[in-house]
Amino acid sequence: MVHDAVAVVDFGGQYAHLIATKVRKHRVLAEIRQPEDPIEAFAPYKGIILSGSPSLSAFGEDSAYNKGIYDLDVPIMGFCFGHQEIAKHYGGKVSHGQQEWGRADLHITREHALFAGLEPVEQVWMSHFDSVDEIGPEFVELASSVLGANGERHRYAAIASDALRRYGFQYHPEVDDTLHGDEMIGNFVLGICGCRPSWTMERYLDEQVERVRRQVDGRSVFLLASGGVDSTVAAYLFRRALAPEQLHLLHIDNGLMRKDESAEVVRMLAELGIGENLHFVDAGDDFLAALERLVEPERKRKAIGNTFIQVFEREARRLHLESHLLGQGTIYPDTIETGGTKRADTIKTHHNRVPIIEEMIAAGKVVEPLVDLYKVEVRDLGEKLGVPADLIGRHPFPGPGLGVRLLCSDGAPALDGEALGAVQSQVDPLLEQYRLKGRVLPLKSVGVKADLRSYESPVLLHGEADWDTLEEAAGTLFKSVSGINRCIWSLAGPLPERFEVVAASVSRTRLDLLREVDAIVTEGLLRHGLYGEVWQCPVVLAPLKVDGRGVECCILRPIRTERGMTATPARLPMAMLAEAAEAILAFPAIGLVAYDVTSKPPGTIEWE
Ligand code: XMP
Repeated sequence: MVHDAVAVVDFGGQYAHLIATKVRKHRVLAEIRQPEDPIEAFAPYKGIILSGSPSLSAFGEDSAYNKGIYDLDVPIMGFCFGHQEIAKHYGGKVSHGQQEWGRADLHITREHALFAGLEPVEQVWMSHFDSVDEIGPEFVELASSVLGANGERHRYAAIASDALRRYGFQYHPEVDDTLHGDEMIGNFVLGICGCRPSWTMERYLDEQVERVRRQVDGRSVFLLASGGVDSTVAAYLFRRALAPEQLHLLHIDNGLMRKDESAEVVRMLAELGIGENLHFVDAGDDFLAALERLVEPERKRKAIGNTFIQVFEREARRLHLESHLLGQGTIYPDTIETGGTKRADTIKTHHNRVPIIEEMIAAGKVVEPLVDLYKVEVRDLGEKLGVPADLIGRHPFPGPGLGVRLLCSDGAPALDGEALGAVQSQVDPLLEQYRLKGRVLPLKSVGVKADLRSYESPVLLHGEADWDTLEEAAGTLFKSVSGINRCIWSLAGPLPERFEVVAASVSRTRLDLLREVDAIVTEGLLRHGLYGEVWQCPVVLAPLKVDGRGVECCILRPIRTERGMTATPARLPMAMLAEAAEAILAFPAIGLVAYDVTSKPPGTIEWE
């Protein structure tokens, strides 16, 4: 091997690929390996990292993977599940139940090369149900973790055996919310493994251009262009790799776009000079028909994804482009969240990963040049390709658009009175210490916990509090109460007492209302100079009547993140929020405006 390299064993955790990206940031090559790979496959590496995993039953008790790796004379490090496996293999014990979600403080209890250059207390990111309770005789504890100001201490957040050269972190140093995770990974890869940095990102673009040419092989590409960052960067890449007549763009107005967005996208693509062969179709009716009466988020997502392909195929026939390959700006999180690696759980089926597209991929009919990248890397690549800065800076917008920001219901509460009461009685005493009140809402939204999909209820928080208190109260609830995965904070009005779920599906009326509300929020962000500071700000409508008012509850979800794999709520100025809440409450259909204070995990960025 030309480069010194590290193997990342993919146990199916949401962040396995991210570990490889973070290693490559140190200019060390990292390659993904499967747990059952033969031992010879690990021979070229100067170190091994074991990823997290959603699947304890497959790997927990009997741990059916190639344990021969432990006989190799190279440093091995595990994160989360990988940490637990290392602890167990060398005589430690792992138990179920000591869950931690989101931000925690890491208290470094013993100096070690892994923490060279770091403070005694570091912010780290947790996502686990299980934890290490005991370590084997050759190991020492390097750090423990504490969640929130009054939280209890969890032991063995970091462990090491320098004699064996085996190391483990309970938290995820690879996610951006572990503030100095890059340094910790660098200390392992460059320091402990002794890898020499030689790999560069510069060649990536050239390699991709070559790859596209090879795959397309003289044929042509019909690219679905939403106007978002990913598909626009993909369009530029195709233009560099292919002759102009080999690229056709199709913008589908699915009726789920933001206010006036499709018209602007078509204008922009034409102006950029990449749209000589630009086609446009208004397919709002097709999407509405496909979504009629659907309530469950995964069914909605699949209906939207399938409709994209039906419309695409119809247009290809109409334009006599049937022999073209389907081009998509799919990025890595689209595949991992759809359960796209061998063991990953399906958190959400992204629109560009429905089964029909998987079949087309298997048949070699799809070309996706960005599929290894995260948003931040796509933006880098876009810069190199000369994509204008304002376009690169646009907030990400999901392919299924507003379709996954309108919660739907058949009118029945998601929890019956008894179940709701049981959760409520756990929530009430926990919130007293924060001087907050809470109401468990009879709806459900999608989240992610320990690499698994969750579909659970939100809690509405009410009362005066600063951001630290709100986020800490949310963290306490997530840690202590099962069945909830979000906390939202009421932005106006008294503490609500009565919630009635209203039967609702995706309709033009609801979409139009959401478009208006969304436009108010975007306009507020721009006017207050906050658009660039926030990574994304979904606005969600949930069909809930509050104390007899309205038929919708509106939730603002501004977040900060770098790659979208983890996220923290963005703390917007109160003045802006009060202004937005007042404008939104002026719509008679809306009875409550709230602010999502949930980190990812346990919530996801989008609600469905
Ligand atoms: P979640 O909600 O999973 O979202 O935390 C992570 C990021 O992915 C976007 N997203 C999608 N993007 N097709 C897309 O192109 C999809 O089906 C899809 N679902 C979520 C989401 O907006 C966020 O930026």
